Formats: sequence, structure tokens, C-alpha cells
Amino acid sequence: MSASIIDGKDFAAKIKENIAKQVKILKEKYDLTPGLAVVLVGEDPASQVYVRNKNKSTKEAGMNGYEYLMDDDVSEEILISKVKELNQDPTVHGILVQLPLPKHINEAAVIEAIAPEKDVDGFHIINSGLLATGGKGMVPCTPLGCIMMLKETLGNLSGLDAVVVGRSNIVGKPMAQLLLNENCTVTIAHSRTKNLDQVVGRSDIVIAAVGVPELVKGSWIKPGATVIDVGINRILKEDGKTRLVGDVEFAAAAERAGAITPVPGGVGPMTIAVLLKNTITAACRQKGIEQPQI
Ligand code: GUN
Repeated sequence: MSASIIDGKDFAAKIKENIAKQVKILKEKYDLTPGLAVVLVGEDPASQVYVRNKNKSTKEAGMNGYEYLMDDDVSEEILISKVKELNQDPTVHGILVQLPLPKHINEAAVIEAIAPEKDVDGFHIINSGLLATGGKGMVPCTPLGCIMMLKETLGNLSGLDAVVVGRSNIVGKPMAQLLLNENCTVTIAHSRTKNLDQVVGRSDIVIAAVGVPELVKGSWIKPGATVIDVGINRILKEDGKTRLVGDVEFAAAAERAGAITPVPGGVGPMTIAVLLKNTITAACRQKGIEQPQI
């Protein structure tokens, strides 16, 4: 293996340390404790783990964490009224409704009910509009974490060729926008893209966020490229046990890449760290306070 490993766990731990210091300052100087409310509908085991981890990290950073669990068959109306109640709650500065939601609920309607300034996921159309037009909104956590890791690894991204494989509203589209804001030349690839191997093969930066296990082959990677793997796929092994793999064929890609994120331990830990950072940003903006820089 020639690539250096981008250690998301280590990087996230440093961000969390910094966040805990910021929280301490906000408490001491402004009597402000940032608060994050997470709403989970239903009992999807993966979502339960994510929500538990988010709440645990929030409290570890010294912030207030509120968890709201709702039954799988809750109506859209009741869910939206909960969101509206949280919009009005002055102790809550960030609201996150864990996705996916059950099929009978219109996800877009729930997201649009969140006050844009409390939308720490950055999924509200006001925030996606602000990201697209260079405004100051909330930026989705996973793509922002990817950009932070890229800048830490490469420094200036200006002029680099980047490909984002995947076009979801949560990762692919905001990721492409952020890369564009860093002056990359950006290609968005997806399931209908022709000659994906060639598109990946000419890219200095590869972001894989498509949700297909090991879709991006190691042999496609341009020598020296930086590879960020957002995928988390659980696959069944021959012995009946399961294994987590990303959207990139890790071992083969690491032979060619300059730097690569592992799965697990790459992008995943960064997402929660950035969520905490977004919650502080949201709290400071709501109170008209300059965010402490440490
Ligand atoms: N489900 C998977 N990832 C996310 C995320 O970043 N935010 C929310 N709200 N739900 C998710």
C-alpha cells in the first residue's frame, strides 16, 4: 500500500476537543449552552445507533442534547408540530430529524418545517440555496467534513479535477457545490454516467457517495489521487458474518492513491464532529455572538 491513510477518527477527536473549548467560552462569557434536538421516528437499528452517538457526543462536548423518539406510525402532522415546537424553544439551537423517515411521511415537508437557522443538517432549501449562491447558511455535515479533510490533506484545492460519484441531496450535490466553491473543476457522476472508469481516472479528487459496495475500482484511481469514501455498506461474508465496506475497493485503491479514507474510521466520525460545530455556529448566529475561534 502506498497511500497515506486519512484518519477521520483522529481528526474528529481534534475538532471535538476544539468544540468543547468553544462551549466552555460560550458558557462562561455569554451564559450560553448550545442545544441540539434530535428527532428519531421508528426503530431502525442503524438510525438508533446514529442518534445515540449524536446525543452522546453532544453531551460530551458540554452542550445540551435532547432526544425525541416517535413511533413508526406517527402522523406527518404530529411530527411537524414537534418540529415547530422546537423552532420556538430558545434552549434548542439545532434541530435534526434523522432520515430516512417512514414512507407515509413527506420528508421534504418535514425538512421545510425546520427553521432554516436551526437546520444544522443544512438540508432546508433556504440553506441549499445559500450554499449554491455563496451565502452564509448552514452547510451539510458530511460534505463539510469531507472538505475539511481534503484541505488538511492537500492544502489549496484550487484548479484540481474532482469527481463526485453520487448525486443525493444529502451528500453528492452539496459536496459538488463545496468543491466548486474551492475552485475545483467538478464532475458529478451517477448511475447513468458513461465510462465512469475514465471519469474517475482523470480526477485528482474522488468522492464516492453512491451507496454501492466497492463500485469504484482500485484500478480506476489516478496515481497520487486523494480518495474520500463516504459509503458505509454492510455486506455478508461467506462465513455468514457481516463486514463494513465503502463505495471504493479500498485495498486496490490504496495501492494507487496518494491518500485515502478508510471505512470505518474515515468520513463517519467527521460527520458527528461537524454536526457539533454546526450547532455552535447556529447558536452563536441566533444570539448575535461571534463564534469563538480556537
Ligand atoms: N441519515 C443519514 N445521514 C443523515 C444525516 O446526515 N442527517 C440526517 N438528518 N439523517 C441522516
